[in-house]
Amino acid sequence: MEPKREHWASRFGFIMAAAGSAVGLGNIWRFPYLTGANGGGAFILIYLGFVFLIGTTVMLAEFSVGRMTQKAAVGAYKSVSRSWTFAGVIGVLTAFLIMGFYPVVGGWATAYVVKSLTGLLSDPTAIGDAFGAFISSPVEPLLWTVLYMSFNIFIVIRGVGKGIEAASKILMPLLILLLISVAGYGMTLPGAMEGFRFLFVPDFSAVSAKTFLAALGQAFFSLSLGMGCMITYGSYLPKDSKLPSSAAVVTAMDTTFAILAGVAIFPALFAFGLEPASGPGLVFVVVPQIFAKMGFIGPILSMIFFIALMIAALTSSVSLMEVVVAYLMDERKWTRRTAVISTGLVMFLFCVLASLSLGLWSSWTIPVLGVGFFDFFDILTDKVFLAIGGLLLGVFAGFKIKKEDLKRELTNEGTFHFALFEAWYFVLKFVTPIAIGLVALFGLFDIVQKELMVFGLIVIGVTALFSKKF
Ligand code: PHE
Repeated sequence: MEPKREHWASRFGFIMAAAGSAVGLGNIWRFPYLTGANGGGAFILIYLGFVFLIGTTVMLAEFSVGRMTQKAAVGAYKSVSRSWTFAGVIGVLTAFLIMGFYPVVGGWATAYVVKSLTGLLSDPTAIGDAFGAFISSPVEPLLWTVLYMSFNIFIVIRGVGKGIEAASKILMPLLILLLISVAGYGMTLPGAMEGFRFLFVPDFSAVSAKTFLAALGQAFFSLSLGMGCMITYGSYLPKDSKLPSSAAVVTAMDTTFAILAGVAIFPALFAFGLEPASGPGLVFVVVPQIFAKMGFIGPILSMIFFIALMIAALTSSVSLMEVVVAYLMDERKWTRRTAVISTGLVMFLFCVLASLSLGLWSSWTIPVLGVGFFDFFDILTDKVFLAIGGLLLGVFAGFKIKKEDLKRELTNEGTFHFALFEAWYFVLKFVTPIAIGLVALFGLFDIVQKELMVFGLIVIGVTALFSKKF
């Protein structure tokens, strides 16, 4: 007999877990630097457009597919149509690849909690060099990655309710408090207005096709969509839980956190006359520089900021791990314990490659693709797999699943009225695939890493060929 499927214990717990998955490095580490590099308010507007039109739609579709099939990514596709199994497999593969760099950054955040208090801020001019030296050293960052990974394993091994849900219920409210305290302080600084102007007044001269691709990739990444994560979380939902409002709440929370991270960083940044666009180093270099200028409160605020970053990352990486673990449990009948430990080990090996690609191997790039492992994992997932995964899900739910079945799932067998059903279905079936297709097409002309895109498409093709094996 199959063991009974695990379930969330409460609706609040599920929402905290799903929001925990969505809110992560994408919001605090990536959103601010993408905004900085893509013209501030203009990027935010395009991003919000994608989030509300396509993000909520796809999230609701993922929840429905997961709960309808009671299966994680691969099983969910497979139980509807065998020839769609590959779409789930791409999701599992994406989880591995994201976990090839995400815990490295999670490890940096963990390290910076401690470093905030041990002299990092004492010489603001040395902070940039210190970060460069830290991430490029061969051993130290990996030790922090091990620590960070062990937190993940500790949570996921305890299971859905006692592990992921219990941790999220404590960590997410804590995260809100921590971020609000940092943002609140930054807003009171003289000169903070300039930062608000940067964040909220759009400058369309910086917008190009690349901006749209970046905004779309970011929307999927930030909402944990396009790789079966929300299908997996949806599969643990009880039948009486309302899906539309859950998707709305989770999306709203994710967006609020991204803006909040922007407000925690930019007003203070402008107040101290620092530069906004500085790539992925923004939160590890510019942010500590801001705190270094604040006097005695600086190290404490800095520590709070990096604890927040670490917590945000942790509740997301457990969801990435769960995608793989749930696949192994559902389809391969592994025990949770074996699945978690082996998954954790493989992911850590990927992290070793990513971390070394920033230091020891920084002059080496993958032949033909022209990027190191860290960028390979990052760009391939964010710019290629997530968007294509979202497109596949839209086509799958829109054309493969019967409309009446979706409606029944979304309204809990007709027990309540979902007024936006027709609009949602239209966006799912037509707007989502067309919009993603167009963005990908134009992005292709504009994107620097064409080889990576082609590589991604080949991987998807090959996976489809072998999909019977999964
Ligand atoms: N949403 C997470 C973030 O913003 C990352 C993530 C992507 C998590 C995909 C799960 C699945 O950091």
